[in-house]
This record gives sequence, structure tokens and C-alpha cells, in this order.
Amino acid sequence: MLEEDAKKMAESGATLSNLSTESRSFPPSEEFAAQANATAEWYERGDADRDAFWAEQADRLSWGEKWSEVLDWQPPFAKWFVGGKLNVAYNCVDRHVEAGNGDRVAFHWEGEPGDTRTITYAELQREVSRTANALAELGVGKGDRVAIQLPMIPEAVFSMLACARLGAMHSVVFGGFSPGALKARIEDAEAKLLITSDGQFRRGKPAPMKENTDEAVEGTSIEHVLVVKRTETDVPWTEGRDVWWHEAVDKASDQHTPELFDSEHPLFILYTSGTTGKPKGILHTSGGYLTQVAYTHNAVFDHKPGESVYWCTADIGWVTGHSYIVYGPLANGATSVMYEGTPNTPHEGRHWEIVQKYGVSIYYTAPTLIRTFMKWGAEIPEKFDLSSLKVLGTVGEPINPEAWMWFREKIGAERCPIVDTWWQTETGAMMIAPLPGVTATKPGSAMRPLPGIGATVVDESGTPVGNGEGGYLVLDKPWPAMLRGIWGDEERYKDTYWSRFAEQGYYFAGDGAKYDADGAIWLLGRVDDVMNVSGHRISTTEVESALVSHPTVAEAAVVGASDPTTGQGIVAFVILRGNVAQDEAKGEEAITALRNHVSKEIGPIAKPRQIMVVQELPKTRSGKIMRRLLRDVAENREVGDVSTLADDSVMSLIQSGLKEGKGED
Ligand code: PRX
Repeated sequence: MLEEDAKKMAESGATLSNLSTESRSFPPSEEFAAQANATAEWYERGDADRDAFWAEQADRLSWGEKWSEVLDWQPPFAKWFVGGKLNVAYNCVDRHVEAGNGDRVAFHWEGEPGDTRTITYAELQREVSRTANALAELGVGKGDRVAIQLPMIPEAVFSMLACARLGAMHSVVFGGFSPGALKARIEDAEAKLLITSDGQFRRGKPAPMKENTDEAVEGTSIEHVLVVKRTETDVPWTEGRDVWWHEAVDKASDQHTPELFDSEHPLFILYTSGTTGKPKGILHTSGGYLTQVAYTHNAVFDHKPGESVYWCTADIGWVTGHSYIVYGPLANGATSVMYEGTPNTPHEGRHWEIVQKYGVSIYYTAPTLIRTFMKWGAEIPEKFDLSSLKVLGTVGEPINPEAWMWFREKIGAERCPIVDTWWQTETGAMMIAPLPGVTATKPGSAMRPLPGIGATVVDESGTPVGNGEGGYLVLDKPWPAMLRGIWGDEERYKDTYWSRFAEQGYYFAGDGAKYDADGAIWLLGRVDDVMNVSGHRISTTEVESALVSHPTVAEAAVVGASDPTTGQGIVAFVILRGNVAQDEAKGEEAITALRNHVSKEIGPIAKPRQIMVVQELPKTRSGKIMRRLLRDVAENREVGDVSTLADDSVMSLIQSGLKEGKGED
């Protein structure tokens, strides 16, 4: 458990070891810097007068009534842009049409089977208005909760914006979640409407959806289920409860007058897993959230309305989809690509084909996907014209320098700045990231807090550490997009985020981090992913990164397993690159070479005790490696609950593969 782990770290009095060093640094070209939206001076303005800086950012939005105060901070409760009134959907849609940009494309939507849809801002306005009218007809109004479980189709965006327009809160649940997970979220939020679809396309085939959602809504507060037809599959139907989208929405009026809501009016709940079994309903509100997502989308991606073609590859079911597919880009009048499917359907070049087709200039993705692309081979992107790309971004986990360099060279042609953006469901928007026209980026570092943001690395007593040292990442100033609480659980909100450094009033992010010699911030993963070997704290990320820097390794996951001598021993699971002779690379000599390689990269202390060659790693549906399961294997324990794995056959594959031979010496 996170809190317990943090306590453990505090008790041991140790700080995270700062073992790896990175000397490469890539400044933006003069040409890029000269045209960039954000300049170095923004940092100064953010420091000099934080409130004035954020007031300026809030001016990116259209306010029906101007706020009277930028921030009311009663720790840990914040109110931003106090007294201001706005409609979030109006800001994302209508105002662009009113400004004469109704013909601009909001979304180039690309379905997995190859069907497409082009949605202009004028069409988006009509669709959102129709959806809002249909939702109102189904009894949805201000303050109500609407659960949404949909594939990556335009109706997901229409639904979210329709809720925002009506002042209702959406709770989007990732399409791959089980009926049980959806039910728990519906119950916690007491949602009255569920929006879903008949089915969804996954890897070229229609998969059922409505059967699952029917199971989830049984016996809950759900009054109606609004069903989008996507796969044209037969579905079970409950008369009186179920309503077809194409009947309810298509017949509704495309005119709807948005109402103004308070700046602090709730916008959405998004559930995220904590260290306990029960997911936390992270609550976000309107004015501050929209301000920060619009600001960061503009500054960090160097977004140029009317010029840039932007693509965030996340799913709408995660916070990245909320902030950087829907709210940030739309507030900025962006033209986005939205893709329904998996990256290897029907072929492993699908993403690059889409980049080429739409002339994508900003591409925002996850390190895990970059490593997958590496595994598939650089000859795949080479076949496509990627010259439209200008800025590349990553999010979700620390990116290992090798993946960063591959992204830079093979996708960005050594021309595009890479922005490694650190943030969380709880922060709502980016917090630590380079400014692409300003920052000389280092492969693997998120660099420094954005202008207006306060983030520090502290030791167990809350004292900031110096350059070259590691500790806990904290956020030391309130920020506009911050979570306003955990739905229905104020105590858990205080305990989880604000009790660890209560004296200083810091937000505890749960991540380990370190400053390098130049003061750049390196994220080291969750504090519960940090190992303790002979009293030295070593991040799983650092060891993984070292392993992946070896020419034979495509992907690696590292866990700490209990060890009678050293406390914990490092156990690594590696996937070899497609082009290496597997039998040779699995052999004892090769494994020893790999262990020595890590020792050389980081230091003898980080040398894995054991390296196991596997075909796949256990990942959640959002792509995070489930170290808990690997720890079970490493400790020779019975493997625990695998229900949140994207592919639950992976664990048996790993175990049967390991029986064939262990790479230990
Ligand atoms: O551990 C950090 C990691 O992802 C966590 C937040 O996860 P989630 O709420 O699912 O949001 C992910 C998308 C914003 C963080 O506590 N994380 C996220 N971005 C980075 C990262 N770790 C290192 N570098 C990043 N850029």
C-alpha cells in the first residue's frame, strides 16, 4: 500500500539512490523556438505573480460572468476563479462557430474497419445540442451523474459535451472494463443514465458491449440506457429502459441554449485505482480545469489553431482522453484525429498510415506503445511519410531513454521536440513537462514544472533535496485543474493526498523523483515500485531502462523479490527483440551479459539477481505493467488476481515458458 510504503521509506531514513546519469540534451531548433507559443519569460511571469499568470490563462476562455477572485485556498480545498460563470461545452464548441470557424474540422474520425467521419465545429454544435436535448428528455439535468461506456466513436465526445452543456457530470468507464467494474462505478456515483453501444470493434472483429452493460446496470440507480448502434449486432432489449441513440438523438432539435454554471460546478468524475481495492472517484470542476487543459494543450504542444493537426492516441476512458482528446483541444479550436481501433489492425503501420493520411503535426502517445513499435521494427514507420510531424509527446509512465531516442530518430526524424508530460488523473492536466520551444530536453526526463506550477522533490521530512538527489515528488502550490476531492469520501481525499506532508501542506503525488546535476526532474515510478537492495533504493524504471538499452532487449519489467541477504533482489522479465536469435539470447552466456550490462549502466548494486526471458508481459488494459503479478512469479508464489489484465492468458504463458529453463547463475 502506498501510504505504508511511504512510511516504510520514511522510517528507513534512506533517500532514493541517484544512480543513472544522462548527458545527452536536445535544444529546440532556432526555427522552432522563433515560432513557439510559449517562451522562457513565461516561467518568470508564473513565479513573479502566480495569480496574475493564471488570470491571464483563464482569459483563454469565454466567461459569461467574470470571476471576482483568482483563488480561494482553504487547504486542502481550492476554489478557482471564484464567482465566475461559464458553460464548458459552449467554450469547446459554440464559440468557435460564432467566431466564424464553423467549417473547421474538429475531428477526423477513423473507424477501425476503415470507415471515416469528418466532423466540423458547426456539425459538432448540432450533434452536441441534439444530444443535450435528448438527455434532458430522459430526465438528465444539473448535478445528475451519467455513466458512459463507449468505444472510441464520436458519440462518446457528443455525450461528454452534452453532459457539460447541461451541468450534469459524466463518469466515463473504459470500454474494456468488466461488468463488475462498471457496476461498482455506477453505484458509487449513483448514475441515472448509462450511455453505451451495441458492440465495439476490437482487432477487426465486433465484440459485444450491451450484454455486459445490461449485467452492470441490473439493480442499480440507472433509469435509462441510451444505446448507440455501432456494430449492428443483435442485442437484448429491455422495453421502457433502453432507448436507441438513433431514435432519441436524431429526432431531437439541433438547437440548444447553453446555461451558465459556476466556475466550481462539477464537470466529471473519473475513477482511478488506488492502492486499495476500491477505485477512487476523482472529482473535477469547470473553470480551473478548462483553463489549465487549454493552456497546457496550447503551450506544451505548441498548438496552432487552424494549422496543427493533433492526435492523442489515448482512450477516452482515461484522463488523457478527457483532457487531451476532448476538453483541451476543443477549448483551443483544434483539429484532431480520433482513432477507434488498435495500432496493429489491420497492419502494424496503421498509426503511421493515419499520420500520413491526415498530415498529423502533433502526436501524443504512451511509452509502452513506443516500445511496442520498437519491437515491431523501424522498417514499418519508414514506409510512410511522417514529414508533417512537428511535436511528439508522451505520457503515463517514465519513458526510458532508448525509447525516447527511438521516438526522436525513427518517428521525429531528429527534428521534432519531444515533450514528456508528467501528470495524473488527480492533477487533471499536465504539471511537469518541457516547453518545446524553450527547453533543451534530456531523453527520459520530464524536465521541470510548467510555468505557474509548483512541484518539488523532498525527502521523508518534507525538506527539498538538492541536485543529484532523490525523494518524493510533491506539488507545493494549488493548481487550477486540481482534483476537488474523491466523490463521496472527503476523508480519503485528505488521507491519500494531504496527510503525508500535512505540516508543509504539500500534495503527495505517490511518485519517486530525483533532480539530476542540472536540476532537471526525473520520475522514478510510483514509490511502491521502488526496490530496496542492500539498503539502496533503486527504481524499477532505472533497471528496466538499462535493460532496454541492450540491443537484444525490446521490453523489460523489473520487480523486487524478497532476498535473505540483501532485503530485496532484482528480478527482471525481458522480451527479446524480434530480430535476435532467441535461443542464443536466452542462453546462460547471454543472460550473464545482460546482467553485466545493467551493472555497467547503473552500478553493481543494480545487477539483476535473475533474468527471465518471456514472450509477453502482463499488462492492464491501459498498458501498465502489473508488477504485482510478476512479483508473485519472482517469489514463486501462487499468482494473484488476474482479472484486470488485458489478456489473462499471459500469466500462464509466462509460467509455462519459465518451466523450460530459468536464466539464473
Ligand atoms: O506514476 C506517474 C505516472 O502515471 C501516474 C498517473 O497515472 P494516471 O492517473 O493513470 O494518469 C496517467 C496519465 C496522466 C503518475 O503518478 N506518470 C504519468 N505520466 C508520467 C508518469 N511517470 C513518469 N513520467 C510521465 N510523463
